[in-house]
Amino acid sequence: MNNGIESCASELLRLHNVSQSYSRGGQAVLVLRDINLTLMRGQTSALVGASGSGKSTLLNILGLLESPVSGRLMFAGHNMLNANADVLARLRNRDIGFVFQAFNLLPRLSAMDNVALPLSYRGLPRREARCQALQQLQQVGLADKAHDKPADLSGGQRQRVAIARALVGNPSLILADEPTGNLDSHTAEEIMALLLELNRERGVTLVMVTHDTALAERFERRIRVIDGQLQEGATHGRC
Ligand SMILES: Nc1ncnc2c1ncn2[C@@H]1O[C@H](COP(=O)(O)OP(=O)(O)OP(=O)(O)O)[C@@H](O)[C@H]1O
Ligand SMILES: [Mg+2]
Repeated sequence: MNNGIESCASELLRLHNVSQSYSRGGQAVLVLRDINLTLMRGQTSALVGASGSGKSTLLNILGLLESPVSGRLMFAGHNMLNANADVLARLRNRDIGFVFQAFNLLPRLSAMDNVALPLSYRGLPRREARCQALQQLQQVGLADKAHDKPADLSGGQRQRVAIARALVGNPSLILADEPTGNLDSHTAEEIMALLLELNRERGVTLVMVTHDTALAERFERRIRVIDGQLQEGATHGRC
């Protein structure tokens, strides 16, 4: 498999012989089997595959939300197997932004306060966090909705808020799990265009799970999860 190692960028993340299993009815069921994958900084990758094939599981491992049962994960040159929970949480907060299909915004907070949340977790004063959140909302075209609650926003606007929240801390990696799955095709296109623009402008590495083959075509890499293993077609380089 082509892991993009010959690409112009430097390595951000590497999985080496990673496996994941869950217990079902008292039996361990292997979901990912000996996965090897290297992501380069600034690269865009689409994760595709049948329902239940392990795409979200892989995304959670890439995002340090789940630890694999075996194998090695290197993130920005650090071996994550030796990392304790605090180090993992700090890396997640500083380096990784998540975008989910269901937006996962806090309903009682305004758009601005939802976006400010990761900065507050980092200990930034509230005023500074809100100021940066507003700038981020501006970048996704939603400055005028800063004080609205999620319930008062459309699906596309909610997803923009979620993208702003994912980006606010300037992460090196955005992991998006079917971010357009709950949106109509026009809004989905807008969200897609926004994510790819942020990749081009900021060089943020983007990994997105999608069932849409036309969307997947727009990524440099298309990685298919089949029976717990990865298959990859030709990579479009950008050097
Ligand atoms: N926490 C868990 N406990 C037990 N089994 C799990 C857990 N998470 C995932 N699984 C199982 O692992 C397999 C892969 O799940 P995963 O959510 O990664 O699939 P997916 O490719 O994202 O599917 P979809 O396209 O439907 O979202 C499934 O069989 C699922 O039931
Ligand atoms: Mg999934």
